[in-house]
This record gives sequence, C-alpha cells and structure tokens, in this order.
Amino acid sequence: MLEGERSTELISKQPMEEITLAPPRIVTLKEVRANPKIRKLVDGANEVMKAMGYTEHGHRHAGIVSSITRYIMEQVGSAPREVELAQIAAYLHDIGNVVNRLHHPMSGANLAFTLLNEMGLDAAELAPILGAIGNHEELTGSPISQMCAALIIADKSDVHFSRVQNPVMDTFDIHDRVNYAVQKSRVEVKEADRQIELTLDIDTKHATVMEYFEIFLSRMVMCRRSAEVLGYRFGLNVNGTYLE
Ligand SMILES: [Fe+2]
Ligand SMILES: [Fe+2]
Repeated sequence: MLEGERSTELISKQPMEEITLAPPRIVTLKEVRANPKIRKLVDGANEVMKAMGYTEHGHRHAGIVSSITRYIMEQVGSAPREVELAQIAAYLHDIGNVVNRLHHPMSGANLAFTLLNEMGLDAAELAPILGAIGNHEELTGSPISQMCAALIIADKSDVHFSRVQNPVMDTFDIHDRVNYAVQKSRVEVKEADRQIELTLDIDTKHATVMEYFEIFLSRMVMCRRSAEVLGYRFGLNVNGTYLE
C-alpha cells in the first residue's frame, strides 16, 4: 500500500466529526440598519455612485425604498415576517455599488449573504432576500417573487429632486435634470381598482415629460411586470395625465 493510500484509509476510518452550526436568529430591519459594517458599506456604495456622477444611492434611498416596499407588501396582504424580510432586502438592494455599478445586483446579493449570515439569519430566510436583490435591475433581472416585485416598484419610484448630488446645475446630465424636475412622487396601492399607481409631479422647467420617459421607459415596463406578479395593474400619473 502506498503511503498516501494508507493515510486516506486511516482518515476514512475515523468517526465523522459533527459540524455544529450556531442556531439561526430572528434578524430585524432595525438591527440591519444599525449594523456598523452595513452602515459603512452603504456609505461606500453611495461614494462610488457620487464619484461616477450618479444620483443619491445611500441611506436615504435605502430607507425610502424599504418603507415603500413595506407599504406595498402590507397592502397586498403579505405575512408580517415576509414584510420584514422584504424590507431588509430593500435596505440592502444597492449595496453592491460599493464594488462597481456594473452587476451591482449580483455583488450586492453576495455581500448581503455574508453580512446577514454573520448576523445569524436563517438560510431559508436569506434565500428569498438574495433572489430579490439579484433581480432588482431591468438589464439582468425580473420580478421573481412578490418580495422582488415590491422592491422593484419601490426602487423605480424613488425619483426626486433630493436625490441629485451634483451641486453644479450647469453640468446636470439628463438623469440629474429628470430627478431634479420631480417635485413629488407617490406610490399608492388602490385595492378597489386592483391597481398600483405611481404619481409624479414634474416641474417642466427642468425636464420634459418626454425626457422622463426617455430614461425611465424600461423601468416602467419592469414596474408593470412587477405589479402583475402581485396581481395588480400598474398605472402612471404624470402631471395629471394618466397612463396605463
Ligand atoms: Fe440598483
Ligand atoms: Fe436602487
């Protein structure tokens, strides 16, 4: 018998060591938001976006998307724990921008796994969060679950003047101008009509409604598909003009 074979045989005869995993914990959105590593990585993600000339993608965006996701999930009748998991996914959805804008849903899902696993979240609860984060962008994703669909509508509806980070108006690009033009944006689930409506008030001094559609058309299509996953129709109301 060769030396290597003997040692393999000896190892195989040893009793298998049992792997003991720490019992999973109920992780809350409050804990996620207070986690210092998550705070620093969300800050870092926004720094990358700011350096690239993008609109705000930090704690403000994460918080708003998380709140709108909760509202949609509650309105469509999701269970309380599912609502909380959806909010966690929403809070972390853009964290991958800390690596690179390109493929940020995938890098974000990987980061979310590490962070939430470290916090003790059960793998069964982690799984839907990873799918929701990994599918939130129109180029590489689709609404694969109710949680993901709610997150997508919440994310795409956060268009607002307060997101513009470029302090020099003369150098605004179309994204800055369109965001700057939006004075009010509101998502409403209209149960009686089985409709999810996004209402935007656009100040046409800064951008036209056509410019809004130029950059948001693909996002609105994704919102329509997401509303369908939730069993609703999607409607858009821009300056009082209703589009379905
Ligand atoms: Fe994103
Ligand atoms: Fe986002």
